Amino acid sequence: MKYELLDPQKICFFIEPENRQQLSALDIFNTLDSTNSYLLSSAKKGGLSGSVCLAEAQTKGRGRRGRAWFSPLGTNIYCSMLWRFERELLDISSLSIAVAVMVAKTLEAYGIKTAVQLKWPNDVLVFNRKLAGILLECTHASVVIGIGLNVDVKEASEENWIDLAEITEEPIDRNRITGLLLNELLSKLPLYETDGLKSFLADWQKYDVLCNKAVTVFTPEKTITGVVEGINQKGELLLKDESGMLQSFCYGEVSVRW
Ligand code: BTN
Repeated sequence: MKYELLDPQKICFFIEPENRQQLSALDIFNTLDSTNSYLLSSAKKGGLSGSVCLAEAQTKGRGRRGRAWFSPLGTNIYCSMLWRFERELLDISSLSIAVAVMVAKTLEAYGIKTAVQLKWPNDVLVFNRKLAGILLECTHASVVIGIGLNVDVKEASEENWIDLAEITEEPIDRNRITGLLLNELLSKLPLYETDGLKSFLADWQKYDVLCNKAVTVFTPEKTITGVVEGINQKGELLLKDESGMLQSFCYGEVSVRW
C-alpha cells in the first residue's frame, strides 16, 4: 500500500482536546458503499452529533447532482460527519459555504502553500482544478457532511481534477490531514450554529475564485450569463446579468469563462 492506513489514534492526535469532546464516534472501515449513506442510516437510528465515518474505499461514493464519486482503496480521504443542530437547520446552502471555508482552512493548516480557491457553491480548487468536493445531506433534523479529498487520483478519468500529491510533490500524511479536517469541523460547526454564515464570509471572499468572473449559471429553470459579484449574507451567488440587473441564486452550476 502506497499510503499509511487511516489510524484512529494518529488522527485524534491532531484534534485539540476541547474539540475532541465534540467527537462522539470515529468509525473507520476498509470498504463501505458510502460514508454519507452510513451516517444517514445511523442518524435514523439515533446516531449522535459529532459521529464521524471514514472509509479506505467506497463502492458507491456519491457526488453532487447524482454523480458517482471516484473512491479507490487507500489513497484519498472519504470522510463524513453527522451533526445535529439544536435549532432547525433552514439553510443547507449557507452551511455548505461554511464547510467549504473549513476545508480551505484545513488545507492551509496542513501547509499547502499554493492558493486554495473556492468555487460556489462548494468546490475546492487549486490551479482551477478540483481538489475536494462536499456533499451535504439532511435527515431527521440532522445533516451529514460528506467530504471527498483527492490525495492521489492519477487513475481517475475525471477531467480537470488535481490531488495533494501533485500539489505538494511530497508524501501525504493522510492521518494528519484527516485529523486537521476533523479538528476544524468540530471547532467551527458550533460557531456556525451560534453565528451562522457571518463568521465565514470574510474568509469566503479571500478564497472566492468566481468574484468578478464572467460566467454562465445553469439552473433547472434557466441559463443566465453575467459577471459574479460575490455572495450575499445567505450564501447565495450574486450575478450581474447582461441587462445590468443583480440576480441571486441559491442553487445552480456555474461554468466559468476563465
Ligand atoms: C461533489 O460532487 O463535489 C461532492 C463529492 C462528495 C464526496 C464525498 S466522499 C465522502 C462522502 N461519501 C459520499 O458518498 N460522498 C461524500
